[in-house]
Amino acid sequence: MPNIAVLTSGGDSPGMNAAVMSVARAASLMGMSLIGIKRGFNGLIGKSGSLDEDIIHLTLDQVLDIADLPGTYLRTARCKEFVQEEYQDKAVRLLEELDVCGIVVIGGDGSMQGAQALARKGVPAIGIPGTIDNDLGYTEQSLGFDTAVNVCVDAVRAIRATSRSHDRAAVVEVMGRNCGDIALNTALSTGSEIVIVPEIRNWSVDDVAQRLNALVDRGNKRATIVVAEGAWKSMAPFDVYGYMKDYDSGSRPVFPGSPMDAYFLARIVENMVKKTEVRATVVGYTQRGRQPSARDAAFAFEAGVVAVNLLKHGESNRVVGVHNGKVFHMDIESALQIKPSFNRRMYNMVNAL
Ligand code: ADP
Ligand code: F6P
Repeated sequence: MPNIAVLTSGGDSPGMNAAVMSVARAASLMGMSLIGIKRGFNGLIGKSGSLDEDIIHLTLDQVLDIADLPGTYLRTARCKEFVQEEYQDKAVRLLEELDVCGIVVIGGDGSMQGAQALARKGVPAIGIPGTIDNDLGYTEQSLGFDTAVNVCVDAVRAIRATSRSHDRAAVVEVMGRNCGDIALNTALSTGSEIVIVPEIRNWSVDDVAQRLNALVDRGNKRATIVVAEGAWKSMAPFDVYGYMKDYDSGSRPVFPGSPMDAYFLARIVENMVKKTEVRATVVGYTQRGRQPSARDAAFAFEAGVVAVNLLKHGESNRVVGVHNGKVFHMDIESALQIKPSFNRRMYNMVNAL
């Protein structure tokens, strides 16, 4: 019976376990046995020093239990070494020893590059997009994004309830690395008044304060400002420390060199607008640790079947995705060249009202 392998890599994302379950069921149907590689590419390069720690023979019974669990049962990691050829060769050797005839890699763009490296070395490799960030341009969906947006929507709804009760504004920071999709979709789904994303360069603190001021003047003292974590890097220069010195003389120290964050922004904007209080919340890792949404779980199910089918038919270097609402696959190299496109029209709509 041929063996196939599966691993999860990069940040964990809701739906990874569901995809592993689907890979296991499809493999079992097609008469293949499944080896789980633990801790992403770390497991493939034997980083732990013990094969028992690095791989696990997955039975159908085991994986049937994990499909709807949050996190990733196989564990995940970022493996710096894997960009180097000597470690990729080591991985190929391990896969040969294990008699593996193909591997499914579940992760984000970095992980897809890892899959591509294996394919180039002759190991049939298929990628499934798993990242909450939605920063893979070739696909409309990646495992975990929908779930993360739902977590943020729940958080913002709860924050808006307390903001409403106190008639005060809120800054809410969400994840996404360099991609503003979680922030934009959260803002759209909650009726948040202001959204700040990394894709819009040189946004300014003054502009945010002016917009909040205008909202307050129109009778809305409880606006929500949703900020994507990557947006701090695209902020126009602002003398945070000079500003805090004037308005916060010594009550709470501001250390030179501290990066701008949601809490600073809330305090600065509150000081600039003066007519409403502004509180801050960082949604953080709760965005990654939720059970997958129905949408993510359904995609995981289909993607797992497609990936195993591709391996069975001798395909390699392909990545599964969604285009026009349909699951498809394409070669990894072309997929990684497609840059994510940001929905500026919706961004403008949120910020215009
Ligand atoms: P994500 O997959 O979520 O984008 P990372 O960018 O951290 O997360 O990548 C995950 C892992 O993929 C890295 O730790 C590394 O092991 C592997 N990887 C990233 N880039 C490459 C590359 N150019 N070649 C081979 N492997 C890579
Ligand atoms: O890529 C997923 C992600 O959650 C990003 O949104 C975030 O920037 C990053 O991972 C956080 O990584 P870590 O788990 O290493 O803190």
